[in-house]
Amino acid sequence: MKGLYFATLVASAITSTLAAPVEPVEEKRAPKASSCASAVTLSGNPFASRTLYPNLAYSSEVLAAAASITDSALAAKATAVSNVGTFLWIDTISKISKVEQELQNIPCNQIGGFVIYDLPGRDCAAKASNGELAAGDITTYKSQYIDPIVTLFKKYPNVALALIIEPDSLPNLVTNANLTTCQNSADGYKAGVAYALQQLNLPNVAMYVDAGHGGWLGWDANLKPGAQMLASVYKTAGSPKQVRGFSTNVAGWNSWDKSPGEFSTATDAKYNKCQNEKTYVDTFAPLLKSDGMPNNAIVDTGRNAVTGLRLEWGDWCNVNGAGFGVRPTSNTGDSLADAFVWVKPGGESDGTSDSSANRYDSYCGKSDAFKPAPEAGTWNEAYFEMLIKNAVPSF
Ligand code: GLC
Repeated sequence: MKGLYFATLVASAITSTLAAPVEPVEEKRAPKASSCASAVTLSGNPFASRTLYPNLAYSSEVLAAAASITDSALAAKATAVSNVGTFLWIDTISKISKVEQELQNIPCNQIGGFVIYDLPGRDCAAKASNGELAAGDITTYKSQYIDPIVTLFKKYPNVALALIIEPDSLPNLVTNANLTTCQNSADGYKAGVAYALQQLNLPNVAMYVDAGHGGWLGWDANLKPGAQMLASVYKTAGSPKQVRGFSTNVAGWNSWDKSPGEFSTATDAKYNKCQNEKTYVDTFAPLLKSDGMPNNAIVDTGRNAVTGLRLEWGDWCNVNGAGFGVRPTSNTGDSLADAFVWVKPGGESDGTSDSSANRYDSYCGKSDAFKPAPEAGTWNEAYFEMLIKNAVPSF
């Protein structure tokens, strides 16, 4: 009442300069649930009683995008995207400074999602996401990246956190061991992932080690070596209690349960029984278990709404025609899948299409890739608007 009175008064006094009365912002926001009153200990499915936290970083990118959209129906949909829980990528040492404001903002009925992503010699089989640390620089990874994150997380024992550990890294060691770059990165990946699992093993943290996707470790020949690779690093870390299992389809495009699978008519389909992510999860999990590792999964459904877009299963860069997928939920219908989550922040690029750039990868120039596209991790407004238009379910 008070706010309304104030707004009316101001508006009538200065109608010539103000187009519309401005309501105090607090009145538009839903009341925020408060943070937990005591320390959180996670066991079982951490998503069962919590929803994924919509982080400030992605929400503000999305709200800025929404404000720039003139089509009001589309702008309203864009605004709705800002409320969807999404992981935050800690992809550089400097990004750590952005994390504390998020930890202070996560209510007790939500779980914060963070991606640990700064290994030395990162993205060894591609170019678009090559990182800041050179292969071999495990010392910096430990002391300037993992250790400060651990210190920060220890300050917030009352906050539930889910971590995805180093997307693509161990899968690359399974299938790209022929590349010199991956050979140079191998020791650092294993030591770095083991160190991360060991040090981030806090009661309020649940960890998922990345396992690529069905079109990667799902091939008959890759399943067992893949499970062995993850389990062996997990054991090197000392089998940390807070490892919950594995993540799949991170920044990926695979359908959860389309059947027959998207690439089931390809000539080599007979060598891969994991034609959708559900089959991959259900096939990979028992192998992990028999190798002695916890085997519950989370699956990125952020951009997997539309199938039939990729020329080849391995096409990973800014797939043209994609749409936002199922919103984060623990309602997966599969006891091995803890949750569908949004990991790749939709609208952020997978890699630049500028062929003269240092990190240009030819996958980002393929005919099924959206162009133009900026550097990995930077905002692509046109791509974001396409994801909204093609979203299933729609916004
Ligand atoms: C990419 C980028 C990384 C970014 C992430 C999320 O893999 O390399 O910098 O944070 O995607 O958009």
